[in-house]
Amino acid sequence: MAVIDVDLAGRAYKVQVGGGLLANMAQEAAPFLESYGSRRPVPIVADANARRHWGGTVEDALSSAGHRTDWYDVPAGEASKSWARLEDLTDWLLALGITRSDHVFALGGGVVGDLVGFACAILKRGCGFVQLPTTLLAQVDSSVGGKTAINTATGKNLVGAFHQPSLVLADTDTLATLPERELRSGYAEVLKYGVLGNIEFFDWLSENRAAVLSLEQDALIHAVAHSVAAKARIVAADERETQDLRALLNLGHTFGHALEAQTGFSDRLLHGESVALGMVLAARYSARRGDLSLEDAERVDEQVALAGLPASLAALDLDCDGSALVDHMRHDKKMEGSTLPFILLRDIGDAYLARDVALDDVAAFLDEQLRSH
Ligand code: GLY
Repeated sequence: MAVIDVDLAGRAYKVQVGGGLLANMAQEAAPFLESYGSRRPVPIVADANARRHWGGTVEDALSSAGHRTDWYDVPAGEASKSWARLEDLTDWLLALGITRSDHVFALGGGVVGDLVGFACAILKRGCGFVQLPTTLLAQVDSSVGGKTAINTATGKNLVGAFHQPSLVLADTDTLATLPERELRSGYAEVLKYGVLGNIEFFDWLSENRAAVLSLEQDALIHAVAHSVAAKARIVAADERETQDLRALLNLGHTFGHALEAQTGFSDRLLHGESVALGMVLAARYSARRGDLSLEDAERVDEQVALAGLPASLAALDLDCDGSALVDHMRHDKKMEGSTLPFILLRDIGDAYLARDVALDDVAAFLDEQLRSH
């Protein structure tokens, strides 16, 4: 098992990465279960898939330690990050008599983690929560760092709060029950840490990609723990994304978000798949500006493609032009007046925030990419 500290003054917490963590959660999370004793039920909010595969393990772990449980089921999918679901969940937590010193447990992927985190940020002006992420994407990204949110009619994650969990238990056993496409989608976020900040990790992934994707324990734990440690360092230095550092974690997300919006946030392109293709586009655009060598842009392409992730915009067969994609970007919450900061690359492992990107030029670049096979 690996343990990573997220070093935030007064709100430091641990992320544990390894097998068997849910089966042992009564011990691992003991300080956060204490307030319930054996009389008050421990609230666990779970998505249907996570509960089906791992609900029994969590239930057994808690009941054998003398705890009772109460479960709240969240329908799987982004639609659950809504005002209506937030209202229903907070009403349920209030009816349970949750106090500010209690902890709510979130079992599932990013949707459950973001929803529960936001509910806990506002419930009685803030109660505790523990993340039990069961997808690769949630383990390496959304469960760590305290960004919580719901979606609104205007867009994704537009209403939310920074609210750090008290503990994250990333049980790598849960990845065995994840559909392969989702595992690969999560791998895009793992690869992102190499591309944005660490060429050695990028090279390690190039060698060990197959071992990670076939869930070989040592390789998998190394990949998840390394990703979490990279994120923890960035979050500790720039928790609220005010110093151009945390923003680097958005590598691939600006292009990716436009692609997700164009495909209706549907199964046609999963979030990680859009980030993978977004990274390819960020690398190619960096090469077009002369910041990155063509050879390095091709290495990013190659690693994305070898992981079974989309690496060609033309292959998506979108019925739109570059300006339609740029129009989606104009709604990005990171817009600064009429410009949008882009995360670009000087090298593999050396991302930077570019504030001089003209959106018209991005549209022309995307037109080229939409055509090039
Ligand atoms: N997912 C990007 C961040 O947490 O900042």
